Amino acid sequence: MRGYFGVGVEGISKPLNLGAVMRTAHAFGASFVFTVGADHRVRDVQRSDTSSAYDHVPYYDWDSLDDLVLPMGCALVGVELVDGAVDLPTFKHPAAAAYVLGREKGSLSDEMLARCAHVVKIPTKFCVNVGLAAAITLYDRTLAMGGWPERPLMPGGKELGDAGTWVTPKRSRR
Ligand SMILES: C[S@@+](CC[C@H](N)C(=O)[O-])C[C@H]1O[C@@H](n2cnc3c(N)ncnc32)[C@H](O)[C@@H]1O
Repeated sequence: MRGYFGVGVEGISKPLNLGAVMRTAHAFGASFVFTVGADHRVRDVQRSDTSSAYDHVPYYDWDSLDDLVLPMGCALVGVELVDGAVDLPTFKHPAAAAYVLGREKGSLSDEMLARCAHVVKIPTKFCVNVGLAAAITLYDRTLAMGGWPERPLMPGGKELGDAGTWVTPKRSRR
């Protein structure tokens, strides 16, 4: 995949949710993870993060928004269900991005939203769990930027042929 990304949470209140976000970020190949103003105990987070993201992905724990520093050219992307946000399926992901999500009881602060270069929303009827929102966002990035081939017209998948190139599967006879 081209580019890189980080994933963070503002004001996270539940260690298990932070662990889920970190595990998801690790699994999708995040270059770094971060929290802003988090209230958590590391041991609790590790209990829910069986992938031990701390050992493999750089973690930044910033006290406040003023402390947040991103690599040059890295766009801060807010993930929040707010009016005016861009629908995620129509969003062009920046090559270098840091996705930031809100706490479980609450949302991204107005200050954080103002700091974001983009704000995206997942088209759901109501908010989903923060860990799930992170997974959906990263899956969308993977779909958009992972270099996957176009899907076939007919139901089913594509498979690799002998030459190592994608072939269209034979249609089953009825
Ligand atoms: C459970 S939600 C917060 C609760 C929510 N503000 C409420 O009271 O309805 C936790 C975080 O997950 C993310 N999130 C959940 N659903 C989302 C959606 N449909 N679109 C974008 N972000 C979402 C946001 O970052 C949000 O701050």
